[in-house]
This record gives sequence, structure tokens and C-alpha cells, in this order.
Amino acid sequence: MTETEDAFKKMDRMYRLQRHFYDLSRRYYLLGRDELLDQMAVRPGERVLEAGCGTARNIIKLARRHRDASFYGLDASSAMLATARAKIDPAGLTNVEVTTALADTFTHEGTFGLDQPFDRIFFSFSISMIPPWRESLENAIANLRAGGRLYIVDFFDLGGLPRTCGRALWWWLNRFGVSRWDELIPFLKSLEARENVASVEVRPLFRGYSFIAEIALADPQINGHPPAPVLS
Ligand SMILES: C[S@@+](CC[C@H](N)C(=O)[O-])C[C@H]1O[C@@H](n2cnc3c(N)ncnc32)[C@H](O)[C@@H]1O
Repeated sequence: MTETEDAFKKMDRMYRLQRHFYDLSRRYYLLGRDELLDQMAVRPGERVLEAGCGTARNIIKLARRHRDASFYGLDASSAMLATARAKIDPAGLTNVEVTTALADTFTHEGTFGLDQPFDRIFFSFSISMIPPWRESLENAIANLRAGGRLYIVDFFDLGGLPRTCGRALWWWLNRFGVSRWDELIPFLKSLEARENVASVEVRPLFRGYSFIAEIALADPQINGHPPAPVLS
């Protein structure tokens, strides 16, 4: 079995049963998702992708708020997406599309048939479940337009909890496929040094339980000199 097939199968195994009570159970501990949705100032006509959208809880909320924008979701688990579609179709949301794909290999063109890159891409409690997290973030950046935004909400260091509670929680999260990537926050901060990145903000929430990161890509029209006009 290739690594790719393995990632699809692993997530389907993990969520085959959980998907039926996923939304109800996760509302109590995936904290920070609504704060991120509020922070994203989606504009009319924009294309927004959630990588690891699961049951589409987040993109459905956004699609209801912004009827004039288009929302896309990808997930490694077809089982999760079956639950997502069972929610999207009856809601009559025509501005949402979901598909099975991996965060580190999707492309806006090949996966979604779009001739333009995304305006915004976000990862909500998915980056902690993706071993090739670095490749997935690089791939997201490659599929964003200049001036586009990348967001992440996920577990932080759980530093506000008593040490033993924090350790117990990591152990329990690990049983659900969640890992703590020690290099993630330094990597996000290091993006600020890149020429194509305008700013990086990392904001811990709920006393370090979770965090929201927002990476704004540079727009040469705003952050730098626009290309000189070609003179004939
Ligand atoms: C904890 S759930 C979060 C779902 C949703 N984002 C939310 O906030 O409710 C993580 C999701 O990431 C998906 N996932 C894990 N690895 C992935 C990968 N490599 N590419 C795409 N999706 C992946 C899982 O199948 C799962 O649906």
C-alpha cells in the first residue's frame, strides 16, 4: 500500500463510526473554530477552501453567511464527506463543493477545476492530524493568489492546564490521531521572512488551549512595486 492510499484508508477507518456523532462531541473541545470563522472577512466573489473539512461544519456556516462567495472542502476521508454531503444537499447550499483529496497534493486546478487559485485557505484542527504538515502548508501557499490568506486553528501547548491534565489530554488526543508538531509554530513564524509573505500572526486562545494563525501573502500591488508596464 502506498503512503497516499494509507492516508485515505487510515482516516476512513478512524471516522467510519465517529462521523455519526462527530459534530455533537467535537463542539466541546475543538475550541476556537467560531473565532476563526468570525475573523475571516470573506468578500463577495471569493473562493475559500478548507483543507480537512470533515463533516463540513465550518464551510456550511461560512456558506450560509456569505451566499455570494464559493466554498470548497477537501478531506482524506470519503466517509466524513458522505456525512458532509448529507448536510449540504438538504440545506440547499449551491455555493459549497467537497471532494476527497489530500492536503499535501491537491491543486486548485486538478482537484477543483478552478482556473484561479484560492483567496483563502484554512485548516481547522486538521494540521495536527497530518504527518506531512509542512508539505501541506507549502501546498496551500502554492494554491493561494498573491495577497491571499492562510489560516490555522488547532491545539496550542495546553499550557494553561495543570501539567498532569495537559499530559493526559495529549495522550487522549493522540488516540484520535492528533499529534503535537513541536516545529509548527516556529515554522509559521519563519514564513514572515519570505518575500511572498506580508505578515504572520499567531494568537493563543483560551489560555493556550488552542491558537489561530493568520498568514497574509504579499500582494505586489499593495506591498511592493507593481511590475513595470511593458512599453511597446
Ligand atoms: C479533527 S477533524 C476536523 C474537521 C473539521 N475541520 C472541523 O473543524 O470540524 C480532522 C479532519 O482532517 C482530515 N484529514 C486528516 N489527514 C488529512 C490529509 N492528509 N488531507 C486531508 N484531510 C485530512 C480527517 O479525515 C478529518 O476529517
